[in-house]
Amino acid sequence: MANQSLDVMVNEHYGSKGLLGRVLTAVRDTGIVLDEVCSDDFSPVSEFHIGGRRSTIDLANTAQLSGDNKVLDIGSGLGGPARTLVEQFGVQVDGVDLTHEFCLVANELTRITGLSDQAVFSQGDALSLPVDYSNKYDVVWTQQSCMNIEDKQQMFIEVCRVLKTGGTFVFQEVFAGDQDGPILLPVPWAREADMSFLWSPDAIRQSILNAGFVECVWKNVTSYYLEEYRLLAEKTGNSVEPPIMGVHLILGDQAGLMRKNVVRNLSQGFISVYQGVFKK
Ligand SMILES: C[S@@+](CC[C@H](N)C(=O)[O-])C[C@H]1O[C@@H](n2cnc3c(N)ncnc32)[C@H](O)[C@@H]1O
Repeated sequence: MANQSLDVMVNEHYGSKGLLGRVLTAVRDTGIVLDEVCSDDFSPVSEFHIGGRRSTIDLANTAQLSGDNKVLDIGSGLGGPARTLVEQFGVQVDGVDLTHEFCLVANELTRITGLSDQAVFSQGDALSLPVDYSNKYDVVWTQQSCMNIEDKQQMFIEVCRVLKTGGTFVFQEVFAGDQDGPILLPVPWAREADMSFLWSPDAIRQSILNAGFVECVWKNVTSYYLEEYRLLAEKTGNSVEPPIMGVHLILGDQAGLMRKNVVRNLSQGFISVYQGVFKK
């Protein structure tokens, strides 16, 4: 299990009260009638990772997701990736996330978009998934949810346990870069260094292999989404014309600075972004 103080820190960092109200108000402010909202309308806030909805679709294509797949999304956030996978690939998704507030909002946005039969979210810890998940899933999916996890080896052991034999582990994650040195803070996953645990790509790869996986795809996508993210960071931090829908609804006033620091950390080689596909 995530140690108790980390659990509390993660919940405080991501799960500010009133998030659902802020997201629904933002939808209305963009001129969309709630009855007609589609899941992509929430993407600027609910696809909470580098590359947004585009990288979710890229990753699912890379992993060759198919309609009969039962998927577990670990660190499912506001459910943006899960809804994209349901809509674009026809899969069923269970989401687990440590942040209680995120699970409430994810279920409500999924209900509003009419996808509740195919995606359900519950609070849970990547380090101790429910006992009855053993050998249950065709795919375990995770996008940028390991940065707050210190004991990544335990997470990969859990991923292996819940996958069926022959199942697929798919991820996009932020790792350490090739330059030593502390990362610039704050970033979207941490205001202080005590919440950020970035391992080198080599250490992660070895840890996944040690958990019993076979490698299919291992890809450094740092430069692939960087320019798009740089533009997004500028938009997020634009105080003259602030965006209506975006991660500032989660992260507050520091959202623009956090994203700019991600761009700086990526550009200076302090962090990197990888996608991977491994088979059990
Ligand atoms: C940057 S958000 C990404 C959310 C989502 N995957 C997405 O891409 O939109 C990181 C997520 O990881 C979750 N998380 C952090 N530690 C976790 C843990 N030990 N178990 C499950 N979820 C965790 C956080 O609550 C947060 O929702």
